[in-house]
Formats: sequence, C-alpha cells, structure tokens
Amino acid sequence: MKFNTISVGLLSQIKTIVGDANVYTRRDDLERYSHDETEDLHYYPEVAVKPKTAAEVSALLKLCNAHLIPVTPRGAGTGLAGGALPIHGGLIISMERFNTIIAIDERNLQATVEPGVITEVFMNAVEEKGLFYPVDPASKGSCFIGGNMANCSGGPRVVKYGTIREYVLNFELVLPSGDIIWTGANTLKYASGYNLTQLLIGSEGTLGIITKIVVKLIPKPTHTALMLASFTTNEQACGAVSAIFRAGLVPSALEFMERKGIEWVKEHDGINFNLLDGINAYLLIEVDGTNPDVIFGDCEKINTVLEEFDCRDILFADSSAQKEELWYMRRTMAVSVKSNSIYKEEDTVVPRAELPALIKGIKEVGAKYGFESVCYGHAGDGNLHVNIIKAGMSDADWNTKLKDGIKEIFELTVALGGTISGEHGIGLVQKEFMSLKYAEINLNLMRGIKQVFDPNGILNPGKITP
Ligand code: LAC
Ligand code: ZN
Repeated sequence: MKFNTISVGLLSQIKTIVGDANVYTRRDDLERYSHDETEDLHYYPEVAVKPKTAAEVSALLKLCNAHLIPVTPRGAGTGLAGGALPIHGGLIISMERFNTIIAIDERNLQATVEPGVITEVFMNAVEEKGLFYPVDPASKGSCFIGGNMANCSGGPRVVKYGTIREYVLNFELVLPSGDIIWTGANTLKYASGYNLTQLLIGSEGTLGIITKIVVKLIPKPTHTALMLASFTTNEQACGAVSAIFRAGLVPSALEFMERKGIEWVKEHDGINFNLLDGINAYLLIEVDGTNPDVIFGDCEKINTVLEEFDCRDILFADSSAQKEELWYMRRTMAVSVKSNSIYKEEDTVVPRAELPALIKGIKEVGAKYGFESVCYGHAGDGNLHVNIIKAGMSDADWNTKLKDGIKEIFELTVALGGTISGEHGIGLVQKEFMSLKYAEINLNLMRGIKQVFDPNGILNPGKITP
C-alpha cells in the first residue's frame, strides 16, 4: 500500500476539525504516541490528534481516506503486541478525551461509556451502585475500556466471568469512510444476522474506531476468599488447575506464577514475601460469591484437590490488606520481569488440561535454544504469559535463533489445541506467526473482511494479517 504524507494543507484541515490545541506535531510531543508497552519498539506518527466527538473522528477518517493517510487509533497505549504503533507514520487518533461514563442504567443492568474511560474508574463507578463489571486486565488502573475491546482483553476473572466479549452488547463505530454506525442492539440476545459487535471485538483498530459502548453489568459478589498454594514443580501446580474444575469448582481467579517471577517482583518492588525453600511454582486462587459459608466450603474442597498434587503450603489471606498484597504481587509481575532484562513476551493459550504439557515443552525449547523464561498467567483459562529473557544469550542468537524457539513454542501451543494469543492480541509482533495457527484460506477470509470495512487499507495498516 502506497500512503501519502500529511501536507501543510491537510494539517490545517485537521486543525480545523479538532482545534489547534488538540493537534501535536513536535517530536517531543509525539514521543508518548510512538510506543506502547511492547518491548522497546518506537514508531513516530507525523501528527497526533485528540478528538472529542464521533463527528470529529468521522471528519478525520473521511479526510485521511480521501488522501490515503494511514491512521492508527490509540487507547491508553498499554498494549503488548504493538497494535497501537503507527508503523507507517501518518495520523494517530488518540481516544483519551472520550473519557465520560455517559449513563449507568440500574433498571437494565447496563452502562453506556466512552472508549477512553479507564477500566478501573468504570469498575469503581458501577461498584458504587452495587453492580459489577468484572473485566480486569492487569493494567486496569491505566488501560482504556475501548482498548480492552479492540484487543479482546481478559484478566484474572475471565475464568469465571468471561472476557470483554461477554459484556459488550452494542457500540458506536466510525468506519474508515466516515460513516457512523451502531453494531448491534442493547439486548442480552442477538440473532439478527451477522454479529458485527463480536466481529469488531478483537479487531485491534483495523476495521473502525469505537466511539461509544453499551456494556452489560452483573450483580456484585459481596465476599471473596484468596489463597496462595505452593508447589515444588510447575507441572504439579499446572496439573492441579484442571482438577479443580473437574471437582465441580469454579474459582473467580486461578493464576499461576513461577518462583522466579515472584523473586523479580521482590527485587523490583521490595515487597515483603517469604519464598519457601524448594517451592518453584504458585497458584493464586480466589473464590467469590455472596455466601461466606459456601465460599469457605469451596475453599476446603479446593484444598483437598490441591493435596492430590503434592501442594506443600497454603497461605490463606486473612485480611483485605493481605489480599491486596498478593494481588499486587501478581499484577505487577509483568512490569517487574521486564525491568529486569531484555525480554520478549508471548501469550500462549491451550485447553487448560494441557497446561502441564505446555509449560514442560516451553522449558525444553528454552534449553534447546539457550534462553530462560519466566512464566505466569491465567492458568484457569489455560493462558500462560511466557516472558523470554535475554540474560546470557548473545545478541546474535537473540536476533536470529530466538525466532525459531518462539516458533517451536507456538507450534507446540497449536498442537495442544491452543492458539498464539489469548488476550494480548496479534498486533505487529505476532502477525508473522499467524500462519502457524491459520491456513491461508482463513487468513484470506480475514483479509477479505478488512477489505470490506477498509478498502483503501488506511486504518491501522500492517497489523494482524501477514
Ligand atoms: C498480565 C498481563 C501481562 O496478566 O496480561 O499480567
Ligand atoms: Zn494477562
């Protein structure tokens, strides 16, 4: 695709649309729009803008479509697959001024929200009304709900409550043509033709720009219990995961952490946590509900299952401060691991009973190619974040051999019935591996969808499909 650059005349039209104060062209101002949280990748846009209304987004897209200017929509920039990187330059449309919770409809248990609302701000607002929006990515304190939608984000509570797919009912979307549509209906059921809402969730800003979202809410669970179980091996911890569900239990979170991950959180954050000798893997297990006796009974049943997997110790959080500390340790792991080494992060997901085979295979591939890895993630979903650490690997090996190692990890993931990303998306950095998962015919269907929505290919070009 041959794109144009933004001429002086076009820049002045862009300024007319959004106002001078919301247009950035200086390199210093563009720096924050040149990266997300993916490794140390940087791509500068020519211009970044902060529109406030769907009409402004529409006018911007119409203009860019007519002049073949690449456009990269951007949420909070917390993505981990390079989805928000403007790799062809052009225009960044930052959604940060779309930050209003428009309405919380307590009659229908729904809310209408703009895409630039911080996920945790939204969660807190609905919780004040005794309602619950459970989609809680680790970055919930800074990520935007629109970015969560674009990436089909998850988080720890997916295991009981589902991904953002389960909560988005309908949304307003601006197409590359500038047309503004609603994708579906504000209903809990939808059997009215192709489901555009679901197609667009996870489309990573390649098909349209979300400007208003209607989400489903649920009643808020009133009680939680949290425990941390310790194991000598990764395989034992991972093996216990599917056994918990087979025993008829559904925790509200079931997270896995390798010892090394906790060591690095301790180093990075100075937290006070006693790592026991001989323990190499942990499960952080939360049970929620409205009846403390039922929750306690479920925890006891979980303990019985854990014992079958040679669980060495169970720490039961006895205060909300201790719960908070354990969750902090888990949520901050990504940042801590990254601050420690040059890294590459993969987001493998398999059917949960295959988790022991996945983690064993990942370590074998590491041994073959000479890299270490720190794994943690949403074990209850079969979703393992694999942080590959450069450590002692030479620059040459890191730049060449590593790719073959990643390829082998993904081949194993697919062979186990899984896929190459569970919740971080494909974006820029995983697209070269799409053909490990998909046949050319699948990829061509995806390319065909892109063509229908965005015939000129201006919207977030160079993402998802190789
Ligand atoms: C997490 C992010 C990296 O689970 O997905 O911490
Ligand atoms: Zn995660």
